Amino acid sequence: MKIDCVVGARPNFMKMAPIIKALKATPGLEPRLIHTEQHYDAAMSKIFFDELGLPVPDLFLGVGSAGHSEQTARVMVEFDRVVAANCPDFVLVVGDVNSTMAAALVAAKRLIPIGHVEAGLRSFDRTMPEEINRIVTDVVSDLLFTTSEDAHLNLANEGIDAAKIRFVGNTMIDSLLLHRERARATSTALETFGLNPGRYLLVTLHRPANVDEPDALSGLLGALGRLADERPVLFPVHPRTRARIEAFGLGAVLARHPGLRLIDPLGYLDFLRLMESAELVLTDSGGIQEETTVLGVPCLTLRPNTERPVTITEGTNILVGTDPARIVEEGLRVLAGERKTGRSPRYWDGHAAGRIAQALAEWGQA
Ligand code: UD1
Repeated sequence: MKIDCVVGARPNFMKMAPIIKALKATPGLEPRLIHTEQHYDAAMSKIFFDELGLPVPDLFLGVGSAGHSEQTARVMVEFDRVVAANCPDFVLVVGDVNSTMAAALVAAKRLIPIGHVEAGLRSFDRTMPEEINRIVTDVVSDLLFTTSEDAHLNLANEGIDAAKIRFVGNTMIDSLLLHRERARATSTALETFGLNPGRYLLVTLHRPANVDEPDALSGLLGALGRLADERPVLFPVHPRTRARIEAFGLGAVLARHPGLRLIDPLGYLDFLRLMESAELVLTDSGGIQEETTVLGVPCLTLRPNTERPVTITEGTNILVGTDPARIVEEGLRVLAGERKTGRSPRYWDGHAAGRIAQALAEWGQA
């Protein structure tokens, strides 16, 4: 069974790495790795391949940055050429980025069976581009691999046949558990940035709703700056966010708070090391809500909703929205010692990729 495994953007890499390994170890399954290059900077892509032990992709599609429709269309045109030249038996996609949906649509049009890893997550907010990608990818998929049980209800509500769904757990957490020790042993990020374990905050922000409007971004930076008056705040900045801070001329907000340190994006091991030792993480990322839950580190999610409610009901995540006053209030509460504790959700145990490989092998024989 020839399986095309498609990745494109940073959060795809840690989800796919353990899957490629598990597929290679399963007799009868033959993965081919395809990188759309939605993300192309070394700091957003190559470093993750190196650190996660992902093989060099068999094919690169050279798609790059563009508006949503154009980026989606470019992936479709290029991936369609690939499958036309050498048709796989199955296409496997992960997560909710534009490359995920585009590759799934190509496979659907060519009647190639599709598997979606991380199926069924819903924010119920269609202003989020990822929500459209999730819904479309799920509706055309033949095997839906879920990370948590709430996803099953979402899929049932959309009329998706339960026979297509496999509850396998979280492959992003497979990567985290596999590399946690190595991050501790090899990363020098704490020393590099002069941070004391348990006495600093870590931030990421890149959602269009948070960074594309000057007022919204300025308010968030102001809130982070206020927290930075209490503890060092380290903020590895996504290229999208960096461009907006410069375009909106927000340097003055940063200058008022020297404790708020903006740095370039980090690799996987350094970021994992910094997450694990942080007193508090503030983010609008999906994956970081999950990773902090497993690491037992308090997380404030700076969004009005989340497609990952299990990180709130079982984990350390608190949804605080985007009001600067509320963010400061909740942040100060954690710094005063009110730390939410939690547990790892079911099947976030390091074996999700193995369950996916097993399910694909069984599916291929059926
Ligand atoms: C994408 C995903 C988002 C994911 C995020 C993780 C979609 C709709 N969004 O958002 O779900 O959480 O990746 O990072 O697929 N850029 C660079 N270098 C790169 C890549 C991008 O400088 O290697 C800059 C470009 O200016 C680009 C901008 O970042 O226009 C946004 O990149 P894009 O891939 O369109 O979306 P993200 O915001 O990264």
